[in-house]
Amino acid sequence: MKFPIFLDNHSTTPMDPRVLDTMLPYFCEKFGNAASRNHPFGWEAEEAVERARQQIAQLIHADAKELVFTSGATESDNLALKGVLEMYKEKGDHIITSATEHRAVLDTAKSLESKKGVKVTYLPVDKYGMVNPDDVRNAITDKTILISIMMANNEIGTINPIKEIGKIAKEKGILFHCDATQGVGKIPVNVQEMGIDLMAFSAHKIYGPKGVGALYVRKKAPRVRLAPIIDGGGHERGMRSGTLPVPLIVGFGKACELCEQEMPTESVKLAGLRDRLQDGIMKHLDEVYLNGHPTQRLPHNLNISFAYVEGESLLMGVKEIALSSGSACTSATLEPSYVLRALGVGSDLAHSSIRFGLGRFNTAEEVDYTAKRIIEIVTKLREMSPLYEMAKEGIDLKSVQWTAH
Ligand SMILES: Cc1ncc(COP(=O)(O)O)c(C=O)c1O
Repeated sequence: MKFPIFLDNHSTTPMDPRVLDTMLPYFCEKFGNAASRNHPFGWEAEEAVERARQQIAQLIHADAKELVFTSGATESDNLALKGVLEMYKEKGDHIITSATEHRAVLDTAKSLESKKGVKVTYLPVDKYGMVNPDDVRNAITDKTILISIMMANNEIGTINPIKEIGKIAKEKGILFHCDATQGVGKIPVNVQEMGIDLMAFSAHKIYGPKGVGALYVRKKAPRVRLAPIIDGGGHERGMRSGTLPVPLIVGFGKACELCEQEMPTESVKLAGLRDRLQDGIMKHLDEVYLNGHPTQRLPHNLNISFAYVEGESLLMGVKEIALSSGSACTSATLEPSYVLRALGVGSDLAHSSIRFGLGRFNTAEEVDYTAKRIIEIVTKLREMSPLYEMAKEGIDLKSVQWTAH
């Protein structure tokens, strides 16, 4: 076993060596600009980009022409929301999204609210973190021009009923954007069947390189138009100017091809490892709670609250294992996770949550080691916890009158 063990595959993934192999020739040898139309260097680069476009489109059942390359899912989400709001501002100024979206969507929505006067409805989620399609339907007004709901949550792994939401959007003639950054490559995604009009995703979550992502933009029924947020040479059908990062795109394409081939076996393997980790921990510890949906969740996600234990202290105790408390973005601050709060998890349990994110290169040996270490540290921390001791003695902590003296 090699240390440290990486169990934070929702934040990013190691690149697959097979991806690197396909990228290498495009740095020094085949370095052309894909927009150079009049010499072989450009043609070679363009061919490589188009091949990658096909590989990516195939994974999500889209047409290659419907992909716009970006720097990652954050940019794709920005382009989807800002691009639609600007392009269709005559039609309306209302967006529907959910409280547990990634900040790439939430902060973009907030910026549109404060800078452009856009109205945003932030739908609540149920106790498992799922959006109710009826809530989407009920929130629609004659000013709604965009629904933006994530495919799967990056903290708790809950998978939303995307097909049902897509159907409602279609019925009402409203565009549907889906942040599928955690879903693509992990669960089957079909933009046709799911009724998705715009979809953001990223290479570095699926064993590809960092710094490249895509926005799927539907071309037919309806043909979606977007106002660009970056102006320039008119690349990507005018929706995203800038010289294409050919090696990154080639890697993104290969990463998608590998996901398509390996997803059926990989998702079963990962769900097996995840269940092994969950059972290993839950069998030996009391007062541990699963966050997120018990079945409608990403195969590689496990999010658990360990009552009476501070998530941060737990992470400090297992420094040889890379884990996350809450999402990577919020763990810089010591705010409890807004995702868990939206599920109705109390502040104490939200503070005690750990996200385990399994990936392609994890082994059963690593999982067993992790379960063993987590049990050891949680037991040790609880031994030092007066609250845990009181709870074990049957004292109802809610009834205790704490004084400052
Ligand atoms: C659901 C979701 N959306 C968007 C992003 C942002 O992706 P990127 O790092 O490619 O900008 C992430 C990354 O954590 C994510 O999990």
